[in-house]
Amino acid sequence: MTDSPAGPDPAAPDPAGRDPANPDPAGAGAVAIEGLRKSFGANLVLDGIDLSVASHEVICLIGASGSGKSTLLRCINLLESIDAGRILLWGQDITQPGIDQNRVRRSVGIVFQAFNLFPHMTVLRNVTLAPVKALGASRREAEDEARALLDRFGLLEKQADYPDRLSGGQQQRVAIVRALAMRPRLMLLDEVTSALDPELVAEVLDVIRELAGSGMTMLIATHEMSFARDIANRVCFLSGGRIVEQGPPAELFTSPRDERTQRFLRRITDAGRL
Ligand SMILES: Nc1ncnc2c1ncn2[C@@H]1O[C@H](COP(=O)(O)OP(=O)(O)OP(=O)(O)O)[C@@H](O)[C@H]1O
Ligand SMILES: [Mg+2]
Repeated sequence: MTDSPAGPDPAAPDPAGRDPANPDPAGAGAVAIEGLRKSFGANLVLDGIDLSVASHEVICLIGASGSGKSTLLRCINLLESIDAGRILLWGQDITQPGIDQNRVRRSVGIVFQAFNLFPHMTVLRNVTLAPVKALGASRREAEDEARALLDRFGLLEKQADYPDRLSGGQQQRVAIVRALAMRPRLMLLDEVTSALDPELVAEVLDVIRELAGSGMTMLIATHEMSFARDIANRVCFLSGGRIVEQGPPAELFTSPRDERTQRFLRRITDAGRL
């Protein structure tokens, strides 16, 4: 996507602290998580997470239910406060006091299992609402950009429809388009296919594959192991609040080293899901 007046004010300080003249230096880390700890009451959910993500990298987070995948994504989007450690986005510590949290959230798209579209608004309005309200785009600019995105993902003919007229797969694709309309530099996807009937999963995975191909940096929590194997540059297995093993999918899925990863994958294989 090119920069148009619908985008963030180019003169404003960059939320991720990039040099405007060189916004994405080669090899720059997109995300750096250091010693991240998070508890809910007595429940220690993230127990020292260290993770670096390069620009354009696609990382899949796998692990048993309750292993902290969603919590980790929510911390990166500042939807959860953290207890210790820090999170840097393109070099800027977004967990330091005084950070403009709304600015950070605008640069990080997050899509959940539940699509959360506004039922009383058309598809087009769902997609243009935030760019107009939060980025200060004009309605016309936001609509032009929204239509281009809807077209890119095969949804243009649905622009005037209300969400309840769409299939689950279409609604989830609209939710992804809505996040993209904010021109995020990073996308966090949390089990975006879990609520879908099996026959609708593929169309959503195709959208994510297209995004990966376009160079979007992504962190994806998923139970779809074959998809993770197919799309991820790197797979991270979470257990006991830590990333106990990570590596390229070809390695991690075929010859996991850690006994906990082996056990998890064996369960998945036995259930016929790998
Ligand atoms: N808002 C919250 N308040 C209290 N506990 C929470 C909250 N959110 C998550 N937890 C707890 O944190 C732990 C990790 O939950 P999380 O949702 O991150 O796991 P997950 O790996 O995403 O699981 P799943 O695969 O089922 O989506 C769980 O024990 C959960 O009960
Ligand atoms: Mg989850």
